[in-house]
Amino acid sequence: MAKTYKIAVIPGDGTGPEVTAEAVKVLKTAADKFKFKVDLTHFDFGGERYERTGETLPDSAVEELRKFDAILLGAIGHPEVAPGILEKGILLKARFELDQYINLRPVKLYPGVETPIKNKGPEDIDFVVVRENTGDAYTGTGGFTMKGTPHEVAVQTAVYTRHQVDRCLKYAFEYARKHGKKARGRGEKNTLALCGKTNVLTYIYDLWERAFHAMGKAQYPDIAREYYHVDATTMWFVKNPEWFDVIVTGNMFGDIITDLGAMIQGGMGIAAGGNINPEGVSMFEPIGGSAPKYTGKGVINPLAAICAAQMMLETLGEEKAAAAMEQAVMWATANKLKSLAAGKMGYSTSEVGDLVAAKVAE
Ligand code: IPM
Ligand code: MN
Repeated sequence: MAKTYKIAVIPGDGTGPEVTAEAVKVLKTAADKFKFKVDLTHFDFGGERYERTGETLPDSAVEELRKFDAILLGAIGHPEVAPGILEKGILLKARFELDQYINLRPVKLYPGVETPIKNKGPEDIDFVVVRENTGDAYTGTGGFTMKGTPHEVAVQTAVYTRHQVDRCLKYAFEYARKHGKKARGRGEKNTLALCGKTNVLTYIYDLWERAFHAMGKAQYPDIAREYYHVDATTMWFVKNPEWFDVIVTGNMFGDIITDLGAMIQGGMGIAAGGNINPEGVSMFEPIGGSAPKYTGKGVINPLAAICAAQMMLETLGEEKAAAAMEQAVMWATANKLKSLAAGKMGYSTSEVGDLVAAKVAE
């Protein structure tokens, strides 16, 4: 009997529903072609529901989401809602409550896609960031004292436990072994680079660095280890992106360097990420926002959402379907789309979805 995956779909705000519809279109096509089933349940969490009901992601919804095989998310963010409410109430709540401790963000320049980096092509820009997704300055540790007075104090502390660091490193080493450049026939060895700031964050990144070398030495002698300070990492992303294979880093640095990564791979139209709990329910999303100014116009690029669905299939173990989807996206960027930018693709949002779906079906 065909395998059935129960997928929760949260289209969210702004252009989220438009791009999610295209991701679902391609997903269904892949399911037909590769003989599995997807059982989709839509949820309306997002800014509009919050405006209506005051609810972000209720605890009961988290419990419900636990019953799915994966979650596909569009975008969260609403111009009428103050910053932080939806981000913390929906996105970060899902990441934390479902313990999605890995944020996996591939940075891959597809053929035909323009990068702002001069003289670099698809063979140079092809790496993955494994961002820790539960700790660091994201835990909400801290607070104000004397708020509103001239002497007010604000503290927000970066927090890491050895357990959090070790489980993230284990994922990153395993990922490097399975998907690193050597494993893909693109280099001499698989390399895992730690991105940190051991010269200033002498507690947090000292812990990361010791754990990194201890685990690498004991369990992953086949994987080369490198270390980069985060500031230098941003420099090398631009100057020598070809140096990188798999990068592991904390939550905050991972947030920052992956926006840079998204730009060098062609922008938010193509960048996708997975919030992964290797033992639980993972959530996949295009990493661009809700793009209010393009909402409802049919001009937004759905490829990032399609790539998110592709990562979802890969994580669920549908590797052939995932590979076919990636091939179809690469075919579209190489042969069809004029640009990845909203309104400049030469096609509407749904036409891009149609193109990719038709290629997957071939
Ligand atoms: C991201 C986003 C989020 C983050 C925000 C919206 C909370 O920037 O997914 O990278 O900081 O993780
Ligand atoms: Mn971010």
